[in-house]
Amino acid sequence: MTAPAAIALDIRLRLLAERGDDAAALVVPDVVLGSPREAADLAAFAAGCDVVTFDHELVDAAALAALEAAGRTIRPGAATVAVAQDKALQRARFAAAGLPIPPFRLLEAPAAAGLVAFGEAHGWPVVAKASRGGYDGRGVWILDGPAAAGDLVAGLTGAGEASPLLAEAWVPLTRELAVLVARRPGGETAVYPVVETVQRDGICRELRVPAPLPPALAATAADLGRRAAAAVGVVGILALELFLVGEGDGGRLVVNEIAARPHNSGHWTIEGAATSQFEQHLRAVLDWPLGSTDLRAPAVATINLLGPADGSDPRSRLRAALAVSGAHLHLYGKAARPGRKLGHATALGATAEEARGRAIAAAAALVGNGAGEGTA
Ligand SMILES: Nc1ncnc2c1ncn2[C@@H]1O[C@H](COP(=O)(O)OP(=O)(O)O)[C@@H](O)[C@H]1O
Ligand SMILES: [Mg+2]
Repeated sequence: MTAPAAIALDIRLRLLAERGDDAAALVVPDVVLGSPREAADLAAFAAGCDVVTFDHELVDAAALAALEAAGRTIRPGAATVAVAQDKALQRARFAAAGLPIPPFRLLEAPAAAGLVAFGEAHGWPVVAKASRGGYDGRGVWILDGPAAAGDLVAGLTGAGEASPLLAEAWVPLTRELAVLVARRPGGETAVYPVVETVQRDGICRELRVPAPLPPALAATAADLGRRAAAAVGVVGILALELFLVGEGDGGRLVVNEIAARPHNSGHWTIEGAATSQFEQHLRAVLDWPLGSTDLRAPAVATINLLGPADGSDPRSRLRAALAVSGAHLHLYGKAARPGRKLGHATALGATAEEARGRAIAAAAALVGNGAGEGTA
């Protein structure tokens, strides 16, 4: 999704991909095969680039730091990537910056006693998270008491998993939100309208823009986005995930986590905002002027397309989905597997209901009868 933005601005992308059939490698002509976790591959790749940036986090941050020390331009920088890769580092950084976060404690290895002590101090449930490597709810466990803590630790140890665990207080959230911020090297930012992200089983299913919030809370969310971006020194797009507790004017916001790259919560911007997050990311990492983040319609909705339970490929139903007028379809070129994010549908509308109705109709057509878990 970065490629069309690069084409329009005459930016030549070079891609480091692990496999020739990676989704991005199918559309970027200049592909270097290699691993972003291998220092030598990163160094050889960076040597031909003016600026190196990322669309995922699975990069060796120490190797990036070495490249920076050797004079390469890495944006976001290695220090930001290291924080974005690690939920425990994020919690510590946000605590130091005075951002509202739940109580937390880092356990250097999975230990039931540590989780139980945390639960006794802060109440159950306790949320345990792998500090690194989790996504789409994998690596997040909600523990309702000491027995669940014991089971989790037994399972992790049995699987040979000794990585650090983050214990944090469960937040009684009423909605989940995200704020996208673009930040240039000098610190100039542009903030998008706050998004409501509808999650099921730890997976984002749906985006609603603007999030239904009183103006004061929306302004607070934008401010948290700017402060988080500054706290981690991001250059490029930062997505800040937030929890809303309570509703209306009595609501308050709690910071969850960040991604320092274009993010699923910003896919609505392709058609829904004056500047897409992908173009904005390129502008920011090149230190070019940022674009307007204004909405193109009163309401925007995006439905994530998950692989249908029957394993069928939504691509086979593309024509039927294109018959839904007013919906914008995106397929990522990934092999279909049940539950995998394969694409999304976005629609604009005069009202939230109108936008959502169109996006759902298109996504449902793509999922077909094999739905099961398909759409919202
Ligand atoms: N402290 C918490 N309290 C309540 N729910 C949480 C908490 N932390 C995470 N969750 C739930 O788990 C989901 C996934 O957690 P997150 O830390 O965002 O991991 P991931 O890397 O999978 O996105 C969140 O979107 C939210 O629904
Ligand atoms: Mg998350």
